[in-house]
Amino acid sequence: MVVAKSWTMVRHFEGAPKPEDFKLVNTELPSLKDGELLLESEFLSVDPYIRPYSKEKLKEGDIILGSQVARVVESNNAAFPVGGYYVAYAGWTTHFISDGTGLDALPSNWPDNLPRSLALGAVGMPGVTAYYGLLEICKPKEGDVLLVNAAAGAVGSLVGQIGKIKGCKVVGSAGSDEKLTFLKEIGFDEAFNYKTVSSLAEALKTASPEGYDCYFDNVGGKFSDAALQQMKDFGRITVCGAISQYNDSVPPSGPYIQPYILFKQLLMQGFLVWTWKNRYPEAQKQLLQWIAEGKLKYHEHITNGFENMPAGFIGMLKGENVGKAIIIV
Ligand SMILES: NC(=O)c1ccc[n+]([C@@H]2O[C@H](COP(=O)([O-])OP(=O)(O)OC[C@H]3O[C@@H](n4cnc5c(N)ncnc54)[C@H](OP(=O)(O)O)[C@@H]3O)[C@@H](O)[C@H]2O)c1
Repeated sequence: MVVAKSWTMVRHFEGAPKPEDFKLVNTELPSLKDGELLLESEFLSVDPYIRPYSKEKLKEGDIILGSQVARVVESNNAAFPVGGYYVAYAGWTTHFISDGTGLDALPSNWPDNLPRSLALGAVGMPGVTAYYGLLEICKPKEGDVLLVNAAAGAVGSLVGQIGKIKGCKVVGSAGSDEKLTFLKEIGFDEAFNYKTVSSLAEALKTASPEGYDCYFDNVGGKFSDAALQQMKDFGRITVCGAISQYNDSVPPSGPYIQPYILFKQLLMQGFLVWTWKNRYPEAQKQLLQWIAEGKLKYHEHITNGFENMPAGFIGMLKGENVGKAIIIV
């Protein structure tokens, strides 16, 4: 008999998620039926989307949603032999039973020397987000100036590096001086701490007096209000995330953006990675190649122990992570 440990939602989040919003439960899993397999989570991912999506997708008592890299430990399904590794969206749980639906095998050319946790980060959903979100919407050209915020995080750190590969000048903002050092190490041309600058507008102007051609927005809110004013004519903006607003219960009223979009003739488009699901392999192949060539560096922020998963999630939302926040069971 296998006992799955799972983190469930005690109550819907109000404001920032708190430790008491989570409850650890043990569940005895039944024996496998024909066609089923038992998987054990090895790495789990804590991602910002869990905060906004939990509201619409979860009810109280449900397992918190999320993804993992999991290994098949028992199988009654020949298509999923014991020992295989898959990315699954089974939520915050150590063990689960599946009929194989929705399991994604790791790319077949996965190098032996690469941690499988990267299938949740630089070669997984955040990597694919950075790849298509930047290349298909911002469409960066050689010599363009690219701005990215939450730049030291899972998506932002890859966006900046892909921008460099494409010949851009890259400016990043992040929330600590340690993160600024990291951004310089991975090749950002300019970086500033949005929490300590006296004026976002001045910091953006200083980093690129000529303005910005491309803006990859992970943050929204006041940062975006300032960034839109610094765009060059015909600038392109990927709206990838709005993390500064995920804890708001009342939508903030802000400066209204239409005049900037109109008079600078900006192109601004929302991006959801799920739309690109059928093109994951193409992006993953290129991301793996860039990593192998040393052109794309990855960094992981590891939290050890399944029991520490809520702390890892809360910490990531507060900005404790450099690179991709990962939980090792
Ligand atoms: N559209 C899609 O398909 C898609 C897919 C993946 C991710 N996303 C979005 O992309 C963004 C980044 O996701 P990620 O997985 O790469 O997470 P991440 O950047 O690794 O972690 C989140 C980071 O957000 C920053 N942050 C938190 N609160 C903030 C605030 N009020 N203002 C500014 N920054 C804040 C923190 O860094 P600092 O220390 O710099 O504050 C924190 O480290 C999120 O908005 C997420 O929802 C979208």
